[in-house]
Amino acid sequence: MTEIFKTPSQSITTITELMIPSYANFGGKVHGGIILSLMDKVAYACASKHSAAYCVTVAVDGVEFLSPVEVGELVSLTAAVHFVGNTTMIVGIQVESLQPRTGLVKHTNSCYFTMAAKDENGKLIQVPGLKIETREDLIHFCEGKSIRENSKTNRALLENDMQHLNLNEQVHFCDQERCLIQIQD
Ligand SMILES: CC(C)(COP(=O)(O)OP(=O)(O)OC[C@H]1O[C@@H](n2cnc3c(N)ncnc32)[C@H](O)[C@@H]1OP(=O)(O)O)[C@@H](O)C(=O)NCCC(=O)NCCS
Repeated sequence: MTEIFKTPSQSITTITELMIPSYANFGGKVHGGIILSLMDKVAYACASKHSAAYCVTVAVDGVEFLSPVEVGELVSLTAAVHFVGNTTMIVGIQVESLQPRTGLVKHTNSCYFTMAAKDENGKLIQVPGLKIETREDLIHFCEGKSIRENSKTNRALLENDMQHLNLNEQVHFCDQERCLIQIQD
């Protein structure tokens, strides 16, 4: 069977949403969770277009809120497939916020969602390969590959650290940290 390849441009997706007062927190800024939910939505739209399948969110890497988003701003989220594995896709998301009256645009966030494609029985399925046609696509592909490898390495390191955790040693390890250890057993 011939393998299917698709370009990132075939699934690139942008959504724009007005930030309304009910999205705000007590400080008057938009809740981070609202932006996260929009990121999940746009990642889903992009991944399901690439895979032509139902997708689930597997992991999120690199979420940082670089500047606050205000009520009244128009937030645009652009998602593009950066990298594909066998059953998963790494979708890169760029978030910008536009103040319509002044025209000021802020880059508020970039991050990476790993999305897996599943069939109607919930079984993981292979996704189309990625056809790279531009230098930018190639940079994105390398970025996605690094994200996947670093994230795997970090998970393995953490698991190893936790398996070999010796609480007596950890007390000294935490000496210089801002915690007060008073365990009573
Ligand atoms: C994530 C999930 C698909 C992994 O299933 P699994 O059978 O353990 O998967 P495998 O170990 O065979 O890995 C399958 C793929 O997931 C990737 N993967 C698994 N865990 C991962 C993680 N923590 N981070 C990134 N990728 C991960 C693997 O690299 C592999 O990718 P590839 O096929 O592109 O090479 C499964 O645990 C799942 O369905 N989770 C629930 C997802 C969901 O419902 N999300 C919505 C939350 S409300």
